[in-house]
Amino acid sequence: MSDHTMTFRLGEGRKAVAPCTIVIFGASGDLTVRKLIPALYHLFKDKQMPPSFRVVGFARREKTDASWRAELRAGLDQFSRTKPVDEAVWAAFSANLHYCMGDLTDTAAYARLEALLTSFGSGPLRENLLFYLAISPSQFGIVAENVHRAGLLHQDGTAWQRLVVEKPFGHDLASAHTLNSELTRFATEQQVFRIDHYLGKETVQNILMFRFSNAIFERLWNRDSIDHVQITVSEKLGVGDRGGYYEEAGAIRDMLQNHILQVLALVAMEPPVSLEAEDVRDEKVKLLKSIRPLTPEDVAKQVVRGQYFAGTVAGQPRPGYRQEIKVKPDSNVETYVAAKLYIDNWRWSGVPFYLRTGKNLPLSASEVRIQFRRTPNVLFAAQCGDKLDPNALTLRLQPNEGISLRFNGKVPGTSLAVRPVRMHFSYDSEFGAYTPEAYERLLLEAMAGDATLFIRRDEVETAWSIVDSIRAGWEGKPLTNHEFYAAGTWGPIAAEDLLAQSGHAWRDPQPIT
Ligand code: BG6
Repeated sequence: MSDHTMTFRLGEGRKAVAPCTIVIFGASGDLTVRKLIPALYHLFKDKQMPPSFRVVGFARREKTDASWRAELRAGLDQFSRTKPVDEAVWAAFSANLHYCMGDLTDTAAYARLEALLTSFGSGPLRENLLFYLAISPSQFGIVAENVHRAGLLHQDGTAWQRLVVEKPFGHDLASAHTLNSELTRFATEQQVFRIDHYLGKETVQNILMFRFSNAIFERLWNRDSIDHVQITVSEKLGVGDRGGYYEEAGAIRDMLQNHILQVLALVAMEPPVSLEAEDVRDEKVKLLKSIRPLTPEDVAKQVVRGQYFAGTVAGQPRPGYRQEIKVKPDSNVETYVAAKLYIDNWRWSGVPFYLRTGKNLPLSASEVRIQFRRTPNVLFAAQCGDKLDPNALTLRLQPNEGISLRFNGKVPGTSLAVRPVRMHFSYDSEFGAYTPEAYERLLLEAMAGDATLFIRRDEVETAWSIVDSIRAGWEGKPLTNHEFYAAGTWGPIAAEDLLAQSGHAWRDPQPIT
């Protein structure tokens, strides 16, 4: 077997996905047309769906199977990652789509849903059920209760039923706790699949592969060799038409509580005992619990928030946050957050982890940068002073997915000059343009019953306790002048100072050339 064919796939050895029905609550919403149906269509196209399946859309608006299918077909033109849409594949796929009109609180609607599922026969299409809750979290409890009462959600038996829930999973620890309790009144924790779409991204999954399949890096992955870590998730877009939601969330709840802390956990966790869901999630929780709690005084020193005012991004004028639709003109909601966290365990003691995310920044890019310690600068002090660059490893999660290693090299010539050079790995050139959407992987895993890429109850609650402590430090403190930044810049000056205090500087993601 050549090197090229010696591939190891995580999914291999996993049971084939059994026939099932996916019921989408909130089927008229954006997520269904933008993400869920395109993902299912591609899974079908790539022959990854079970041999038989149905998708039932449940929502209040009056529609027929035919009108729902037509709506989704139109959406696919816009949101499919492959174009044009393959009409033969769509025809075969869409024959499995059905619509059930109903209100989430109306028990009669669940009886109609039950009748529709029963019309699929008495086998797995009626019994193996994936309930996708693309609805407001305030309705999770009522849906779980109603599907249970309609005899569609059991906690035992040979068939399976699962609940997939979207973020926001609560707005603080107490509300997340309540949501968890509501869901687990009618389902076991093993039946609840909490989505964080970052975990469905190939490059995020690769963090564990990269760390634990390469001896050269893992040996250096600790406080002895690493000076600090930076995690940047920058976004070029402002809040757009999501002002109403964003006023309740802000950058810390929208991005840090979930996506960024998940990436941090994968970058910093200990090797799991196995790749089984519980083993991986045990280690992530352990890591999150090792993050040093922040007092309000620590928050003042270690966390920077910001809000954008009017500016230009890539030549386009952008309004300030306070001028966005459904945003209060004196809003104090943060559209940017940067934090310096410490992980109090043996591996990471004393190593700062800098996290940042923001809207209306110069470009959209997610990166993890591992900065190694400097070498003792004895030999090159005459040429470089104390400027010899430290080595750095950058994991580019998106776009331009890949990994780069920066090290120093001799500039060719007779003089002894040293400068940083790079070694690049790019997904595209190595593997071709294989870019499944995160939702494809996540839906497949949920159907297969593998919870590795989903967030466990204690994980979500631990992440909220970190965010709550930061928010407590902000409580009652309006934004001050130095916490604003112009749209199109890299955030408030205070974020630069946060690193400068320790002699560090942000490394901004570079545009693709
Ligand atoms: C979502 C947030 O969870 O993630 C959005 O609600 C954000 O505000 C989005 O834009 C970013 O996801 P991605 O996959 O585009 O990096």
